[in-house]
Amino acid sequence: MINYAVIGVGYFGADLARIMQETEDATITVVYDPDNGETIAAELGCDAAASLEQAINRADVDCVIVATPNYLHKEPVILAAKHKKHVFCEKPIALSYQDCDEMVRACEENGVIFMAGHIMNFFNGVHYAKELIQQGVIGKVLYCHSARNGWEEQQPSISWKKIREKSGGHLYHHIHELDCVQFIMGGAPKTVTMTAGNVAHQGESFGDEDDMLFLNLEFDDNRFALLEWGSAFRWGEHYVLIQGEKGAIKLDMYHCGGTLRVNGQDSHFLIHESQEEDDDRTRIYTGASMDGAIQYGQPGKRTPLWLNTVMRKEMKYLNDILHGMQPTEEFAKLLTGEAARAAIATADACTKSRYENRKVAVSEITGA
Ligand SMILES: NC(=O)c1ccc[n+]([C@@H]2O[C@H](COP(=O)([O-])OP(=O)(O)OC[C@H]3O[C@@H](n4cnc5c(N)ncnc54)[C@H](O)[C@@H]3O)[C@@H](O)[C@H]2O)c1
Repeated sequence: MINYAVIGVGYFGADLARIMQETEDATITVVYDPDNGETIAAELGCDAAASLEQAINRADVDCVIVATPNYLHKEPVILAAKHKKHVFCEKPIALSYQDCDEMVRACEENGVIFMAGHIMNFFNGVHYAKELIQQGVIGKVLYCHSARNGWEEQQPSISWKKIREKSGGHLYHHIHELDCVQFIMGGAPKTVTMTAGNVAHQGESFGDEDDMLFLNLEFDDNRFALLEWGSAFRWGEHYVLIQGEKGAIKLDMYHCGGTLRVNGQDSHFLIHESQEEDDDRTRIYTGASMDGAIQYGQPGKRTPLWLNTVMRKEMKYLNDILHGMQPTEEFAKLLTGEAARAAIATADACTKSRYENRKVAVSEITGA
């Protein structure tokens, strides 16, 4: 049995805890969350700690799952490492490369596992696309284009997710697509340029993040990527398009489904586990309650069907690793800190580019 502490049991942490509690050979011993800890502990039948230290410094905790708001990941991760507890940390791992590096190093130095919660890697369709690329089906990948766009309406209250200092804004908060593109391209780009602005969401009813972001990534060997995010787009989209020398793959999360195009012939595959899950995601994106491609959870809300299934795969993978399973090559980067560092390094380089109005080498961030 592996025993877990969950730090932060709002929208996502509570469902991670519920799922892990249902996972074979796993149990939640304790949760810590100053606002929602007692409620979730009562539901799960575990302890609610009165402080972070009390949640982590226990003999019956082997691994700490960190699902606090983005700007509050560092303290629990470092404390867990110091107490020799394994760590699973939600995305984005940190809001600066320096913090991310310190967090991963603390785990390395204390000999504990650090797993980055880059959940998109567990999508059926993402795994299949990587396999197709590996098999040479679309040839050398020359270019990726991702979009995660929608329209944000005025919200009844302003979530931390819309405040740049707390969430990092779309680039950090929705780091999934950047991580996915870097997995496909084999690592971080050499140089980046970002332009961005808050074009349609100023004033007291909104947060202060940029609502339009455009990233231009240049990889070695003449390969490129364009990534865009934002909440100022009336035409919602959410996809990763992969263009190879011999064919192309589109992972469409909006009209949910995957397409492989080779020699002008299209074949289709699932993004999630079943047609029902893909259809459910399409229904959510195209439904009236959705702000375009932007959906944010909050404490008390439950994750949708497709996401719940991916979370189950991710939690099972973590638990299997802690039970001694060896990671496959595809997932190793999630456990070495490589994917975490690479994503935050590129995000930081993009941020620098935006504010210094110039092209930035990722090596300026990593020092490599
Ligand atoms: N992988 C995904 O697809 C995915 C989806 C949603 C959220 N997330 C990530 O999960 C994390 C949590 O997001 P959320 O949607 O659950 O947010 P949320 O606001 O719903 O929940 C955050 C919880 O953390 C608690 N909290 C605040 N400060 C704390 C502290 N110092 N110690 C312990 N708990 C504290 C809050 O009371 C709240 O219950 C974020 O990092 C987010 O990026 C990931």
